[in-house]
Amino acid sequence: MTETTTGSKDYRDSGLEFPADFLFGSATASYQIEGAATEDGRGPSIWDTFSHTPGKIVNGDTGDVADDHYHRWESDLDLMKELGLEAYRFSIAWPRIQPDGSGRVNEAGLAFYSRLVDGLLERGIRPVATLYHWDLPQALEDAGGWTNRETAYRFAEYAAVVGEALGDRVHTWTTLNEPWCSAYLGYGSGAHAPGRTEPLAALQAVHHLNLAHGLALQELRRVVTKADAEYSVTLNFHVIRGHDDSSPEAIRRIDALANRAFTGPMLRGEYPADLLEDTAAITDWSFVQPGDLDVIRQPIDVLGVNYYSTVTVKMWDGESPRQNADGHKDVGGSPWPGSTDVEFLVQEGPYTAMGWNIAPDGLEELLVSLSEQFPEQPLMITENGAAFDDVVEDGRVHDPERLDYLRRHFTAAHRAKQRGVDLRGYFVWSLLDNFEWGYGYTKRFGIVHVDYDTQVRTVKDSGRFYQELIRTRRLPE
Ligand code: FCB
Repeated sequence: MTETTTGSKDYRDSGLEFPADFLFGSATASYQIEGAATEDGRGPSIWDTFSHTPGKIVNGDTGDVADDHYHRWESDLDLMKELGLEAYRFSIAWPRIQPDGSGRVNEAGLAFYSRLVDGLLERGIRPVATLYHWDLPQALEDAGGWTNRETAYRFAEYAAVVGEALGDRVHTWTTLNEPWCSAYLGYGSGAHAPGRTEPLAALQAVHHLNLAHGLALQELRRVVTKADAEYSVTLNFHVIRGHDDSSPEAIRRIDALANRAFTGPMLRGEYPADLLEDTAAITDWSFVQPGDLDVIRQPIDVLGVNYYSTVTVKMWDGESPRQNADGHKDVGGSPWPGSTDVEFLVQEGPYTAMGWNIAPDGLEELLVSLSEQFPEQPLMITENGAAFDDVVEDGRVHDPERLDYLRRHFTAAHRAKQRGVDLRGYFVWSLLDNFEWGYGYTKRFGIVHVDYDTQVRTVKDSGRFYQELIRTRRLPE
């Protein structure tokens, strides 16, 4: 999270051993895999609306069918068991549980996740449930979405409903996935649903998501009956590197918006003073009400870390052609309220199919930095993985780049552990190729290939590599 001069080291180790209590898992999210968008009483979410709006998603793709996991969940669970997964991180679609975003509970929606959790436990796989991976009920967006404080209270009610239904079995509860994306891509840049481009709305969303996290944890702890259940949140940390003399200022600003806007309130009970100053022209933050920070700061058992690549920043000189390579789809709006004068430089390759630079040293640096900042806080990598253009040949998918990416990032995770980081496990993003948000089905992140015409699943070479790693607890040759 700070400037580094280490560059991209090799990180291509094999043979490294992971201890018996290190958790190997894989992750997905509801809208990206489930399909069955109008079945069994599911209401519309902001992603249904957004994906059905012409021009928002590459090829006009939607999550209407996706991986059809809603109907194929049993065979998908069998596949997880075959791979040897020890844990599965999935998300619950709020509009399946509360089609109108509040009030009425749809029992059929709860029953789906109840069967899923039972199916995982029968196969010896730990259920790790995320309550919010971006599919806000459309009815709540119509009332202001995350710019409206009320949405945080609705989220807490929803958390209580799900906690009561599944709280005897779920092992780990995660409140939010990447609130950075929900707030800044949803309400700032407009690249994600609901596609708004208002700096003030983005900052309101930051706070109301933080509040939702705190309120939901209070509710979960009240209703969950499994005594050893764990509680967490997943953040997508930005590992920020410098380039010239102007970079320290640019790094500080992006670190405040991207990282400390969430870790500050959640883990320290305060918003960083510099964040408030940097955004003073947009808001005085009076939407933070007395007592909010006490609610937001709740103990968590593990901090979920999503990591894919790094960014390199400097202050834009106002003259030379502007670079905007922050790794997110550029649709015109800015995901950086108050800091649109920060320039994101094109970084050194190699790159994945997302155009994201491959930097395993960034993962090691991030884990070490987090454990220095929050020494008592256990960490879990809740997403890491890579998109490449895979093809099925004779029933196999050879994906040496993804395999190499995973090897290098497992090496980085191992090195961080050796350096004393309390890292509890790792979830590969993703189990299945799926709906990659604004990029639709054009980007494949799975360790299992999905043929979207036939719904046939084919384990990629990277999936076999992961299976071998889990079986032997050593990075394969
Ligand atoms: C993360 C999201 C996940 C997936 C990966 C590639 O930002 O949490 O749903 O899209 O990126």
